[in-house]
Amino acid sequence: MALRKLNAPATAGRLANDTRQVHTVRPILVSAFHGRVCPLAFKPASKLGRTHAVAPACVAAPVELKTGKPRREDVITGSPDNNVTDYIYEKMGMDLHRQADHPIGIIKQAIYDYFESRNPGLFQKFDDRYPIVSTRANFDEVLVPADHVSRSPNDTYYVNANTVLRCHTSAHQAETLRAGHPAFLVTGDVYRRDSIDATHYPVFHQMEGVRVFSEHEWTAAGLTATQLAEKDLKGALEGLAKHLFGDVECRWIDAYFPFTEPSFELEIFFKGKWLEVLGCGVMQQIILDDNYKPGHKAWAFGLGLERLAMVLFDVPDIRLFWSNDDRFLKQFRAGDLSARFKPYSKFPACYKDMAFWVSPEFSENNLCELVRNIGGDLVEEVTCIDTFTNKKTGRTSNCFRITYRSMERSLTDEEINALQERVRQQVASELKVELR
Ligand code: DAH
Repeated sequence: MALRKLNAPATAGRLANDTRQVHTVRPILVSAFHGRVCPLAFKPASKLGRTHAVAPACVAAPVELKTGKPRREDVITGSPDNNVTDYIYEKMGMDLHRQADHPIGIIKQAIYDYFESRNPGLFQKFDDRYPIVSTRANFDEVLVPADHVSRSPNDTYYVNANTVLRCHTSAHQAETLRAGHPAFLVTGDVYRRDSIDATHYPVFHQMEGVRVFSEHEWTAAGLTATQLAEKDLKGALEGLAKHLFGDVECRWIDAYFPFTEPSFELEIFFKGKWLEVLGCGVMQQIILDDNYKPGHKAWAFGLGLERLAMVLFDVPDIRLFWSNDDRFLKQFRAGDLSARFKPYSKFPACYKDMAFWVSPEFSENNLCELVRNIGGDLVEEVTCIDTFTNKKTGRTSNCFRITYRSMERSLTDEEINALQERVRQQVASELKVELR
């Protein structure tokens, strides 16, 4: 599935949420591009049972201060629940968001600058939170329902049964509130098992923003707590959109996230199209009551830095952010939002199709993980181009097209044939499918 985002209904199956077969252009999204137009209404979080005991109000708990690149044995653990690969491990600690001249670092800094000018000194900034978090922090503490699709090992990288590579920076909301911070921005790398194309990569970067208000603020404004939070949220984020993209038109779309009520998505009209920029809302009161102090109100937002950087800097393929090629890196400079990526060349693609009879256990995310492990960043896209069910046997066949293309050089037939042969062998031996 191309994307499961955290406003997908807990009850939506993968297919309900998979728009890929029906849309040729993917809807844009919150996370990297991990957004999907969701066809179903989401269950209100207030009706969901709590799945864990949370810390009592007002007790400041220490924030996990581990930083730096995790050790391999802490990521690839041998646990039966572990599904992290070396390909993913190698991306850890690269910290693109902490490189001042990298497009991801430039966007992060521009957002920091914006919030600093709007509310000098108010927002604490964190960009070195350890990416390995508990399932409690990643899901329970932000009220992600027990049956939500994002908890599946098909979608999330598990280190062991209770520990994951964070799939969103919302994983740090509760702990940062418990540490007593009333306003903060947390930036970090996040990890999701997903399909492969120009806008999806299993590692990307998000920023989470939270601001807490106290009672005197909404009474002084003559508003209810929720009115003030919503008004400040929308003002802050529209201002952010204009800071990054110029004088763009903005619109608000009602959304659903487990952690906010009401919830919204911000869209901007940019280069002739409405683009989704971020998700946000008024924080579920229970998160605040359980982790901060009673009698407060807060807003929260989450945005994907790759998404913003691709739109702003005209970067056509998400793999470019991981490139060490100076022809890419030298086009960007700290503080310069005006850069527009100039393609240095587009090397030819090489297409390989493979058809197989699937079994019920087959998942597209597993196929993509396998292909990525063999082909690395030479894999540009994996798409299902045909599917049919044999009426007599009831078996279903899928045909997937793998697009190989290097960002840096021309590929030879021999190397692609060799990669594709390894893909075919592993698909047959590991994915419980029958090649045709
Ligand atoms: N965590 C969401 C995601 O990854 C993004 C998000 C949406 C964060 C709304 C928020 C929020 O804090 O209020 O898709």
